Amino acid sequence: MKSSRRKFIKQAAVIIPAASILQSCQPKMTEKIIKPIVVSTWDSGLEVNKVAWQILRTNGKAIDAVEKGANSIEDTINCCVGLGGNPDRDGFVTLDACIMDEKQNCGSVAFLQDIKNPISVARKIMEKTPHVMLVGDGAKKFAIDNGFKEESDVLSDDAKAEYAKWLEKSEYKPQINIEKRQNSETKVPGKLSNGDFNHDTMGIVAIDSNGDLSGACTTSGMGFKMHGRVGDSPIIGGGLFIDNEIGGATSSGQGEEVIRICGTHLVVELMRMGKTPMDACKTAVERIINVNPEKAKTFQVGFLAINKNGIVGGYSVQPGFTYSVTSDDSGGQVFEADSHFK
Ligand code: GLY
Repeated sequence: MKSSRRKFIKQAAVIIPAASILQSCQPKMTEKIIKPIVVSTWDSGLEVNKVAWQILRTNGKAIDAVEKGANSIEDTINCCVGLGGNPDRDGFVTLDACIMDEKQNCGSVAFLQDIKNPISVARKIMEKTPHVMLVGDGAKKFAIDNGFKEESDVLSDDAKAEYAKWLEKSEYKPQINIEKRQNSETKVPGKLSNGDFNHDTMGIVAIDSNGDLSGACTTSGMGFKMHGRVGDSPIIGGGLFIDNEIGGATSSGQGEEVIRICGTHLVVELMRMGKTPMDACKTAVERIINVNPEKAKTFQVGFLAINKNGIVGGYSVQPGFTYSVTSDDSGGQVFEADSHFK
């Protein structure tokens, strides 16, 4: 699925032509402000966007669109999101997620176990508590107290197989664009023509017909991480940041590197200073590279941003970071972001 880099088109506002998979460049731009619109990380975002779009196209709210979109992938068996994800090194699937609306209300869960829809728990925390973030057993208790079902025996057959393979060496070694799992029985959004699935953390940002932004970010985190490890996905300003006056950003990849630079907050602040979404993502990636250029050769981070006018851009450390854009009934498009390393 890897296509060669192509030149980027100067940005103004997005036009989405007929549905197709993996476009080779940035969305085309015009002067027109685009809304509603939903963008999400990876090829698998195309199916997530379809769920979100059903809400947006009928003048629904962006916060509902991003939550339902996130739920749709949390409900599938896949390597990297929801209870079907890969476990940590002790065999437990632990979930991280956060959500943010147009009023800068935000909610977050981290190190959550045995609950199917972490993004909805995060929304409940946002709406029903004076807090932003709950973790571990406290988050699980809150979820159960609020009607979420405790799931048992959550490790999927795919995850069991991956875990058994990992145990042979028990080596923690993050992989670039790890997000591939082949299983003909698994109905995973983002199925590619070669039968693999390409995705990682699911980050979603939407603008509704009212012009309001919301975002969601959900993940099972790095496979075979240390028990208790939390990545960038539940961190407001790490895996997700929304400012209704400016735009929103989300990230995927090696969470530690995103946290180190407060990645998505940085991207939104760079847009506030006048950068296009793509240039803001590029500058954030360069910030990560500058921290440790040698180490940066070994991991992937991708940023995806949209500004208040519906202009979309992405940029990544390594080639292979894709994102999905939907702004009409045509089914949306997948784009491959340009990257620091070629
Ligand atoms: N970006 C997901 C993680 O690092 O857990």
